[in-house]
Amino acid sequence: MSQKTTFGSKIGLIATTVGSAVGLGNVWRFPAETQANGGAIFLLIYIACVFILGIPVMTAEFSLGRGGSSDATGVFRKVTPNKKGWWLVGALAIMASYLILSFYMVVSGWTLEYLIQSISGNLYATDSEIVAGNKEQLFNNRMTEYIRGTYRPLIMTYIMLAANAFVLLKGVQKGIEKISNIMMPVLFILLLMFCVVSLSLPNASEGVSFFLKPDFSAVSAKTIVNALGQAFFSLSLAMGILVTYASYYPPKTKLTRTAVTVSVLDLGVAILMGLIIFPAVMTFGLTDHDLAGSALVFITLPEIFSQMSGTLFWSALFFLLLSVAAFTSTISLAEVSVAFMEQRFGFTRTRSVITVVAPLFILSSVCSLSVGPWSEFTIYGMTIFDFLDTVATNIMLPVGGILLCVYMGWIAPRSFFRKEMTNNGKLKSHTFAIIAFIIKWIAPLLIALVLAGQFL
Ligand code: PFF
Repeated sequence: MSQKTTFGSKIGLIATTVGSAVGLGNVWRFPAETQANGGAIFLLIYIACVFILGIPVMTAEFSLGRGGSSDATGVFRKVTPNKKGWWLVGALAIMASYLILSFYMVVSGWTLEYLIQSISGNLYATDSEIVAGNKEQLFNNRMTEYIRGTYRPLIMTYIMLAANAFVLLKGVQKGIEKISNIMMPVLFILLLMFCVVSLSLPNASEGVSFFLKPDFSAVSAKTIVNALGQAFFSLSLAMGILVTYASYYPPKTKLTRTAVTVSVLDLGVAILMGLIIFPAVMTFGLTDHDLAGSALVFITLPEIFSQMSGTLFWSALFFLLLSVAAFTSTISLAEVSVAFMEQRFGFTRTRSVITVVAPLFILSSVCSLSVGPWSEFTIYGMTIFDFLDTVATNIMLPVGGILLCVYMGWIAPRSFFRKEMTNNGKLKSHTFAIIAFIIKWIAPLLIALVLAGQFL
């Protein structure tokens, strides 16, 4: 590459990285996991995972990315040119991020559909075949149409794909950073608005105590395994994303501080989501509802909105929030492959974006159809969509995480890690020893436990 790409401003750099981290993982997966794993105790363990593991692993990824200053595979070649084969760790991350992108894009299409249908009011228009008052049935029918249908989900996915291509084509500063600078403040304002509304609902305190008062007897190995998996997903770890974004960080960026800021903001969004969802679920008596998977977002939440005054307004704002969160995350997932094409094959930005986005039209179509007309076709009892999700999230992600820690802890020179964390010795890094220790010894073991835990 002729001239090195960097982010334009510190705030843009943070907005972009937070944009990647904050996504469906926070808005949708986190409340579902919290409910399934006993509420407040899960939150507590999750917070511990973010601080003990998330921040060190993120700092390690930032160091590798900025120091290696290349795509997710190139960084390994640059940092340790005589250690062959480690670039495969980057290749695994690229593959995983691409697979995740193929179904994540479909979900982002659903969020767009629900935004459109909220604005038009169709989402809430009771049709004749619905028994009056049976809202669950109504929203189930809606899901059949908007999510399990054939054409509409495909069209929405393609719109999101095209929007991604548009931003990616504009480049890192003028595309990704610019859009994040606009979208992230919008997202935070929307979240705060929802939080105020939800906390002022009549039974808010019940929801808050489910979310914030831990029941220590509910801890199990599975709780810890799930919390750690959630932390990796939510912080965009081990996907090549943070390595790629950090390769655009200027030399003066303080990596540890950035990791803390990004992680705390990501955690903050998850906590805000908890404070939004649980009071609402309690108030409207929907505690028996399944919050897992798509039910929370596409059935339970519309039921809640339908019972509030200003249904369409709140519904549209919420799905706008969700679309924004998903959009900045899909961009980051795609940028991993775009950067790879640019760096590895010397493609222009345009050619790289086309090479990355074009096959997604097919892959994402397959994922979309596998939820609808092709749902009979299964692999190990899962639809293609669920299969990709499981393999990428539960297997490739932890394997990538372990290898990344082994690389930064044992293979890359310690001096390299220190140099990046201290900005070439300019910063005092009191935390270097601790972070290096965690990366070398603790993180690989803990992540290995998570991996093994999937098979419990
Ligand atoms: N961190 C984002 C989220 O929580 O939705 C996006 C994301 C990145 C999801 C990487 C999954 C992943 F593996």
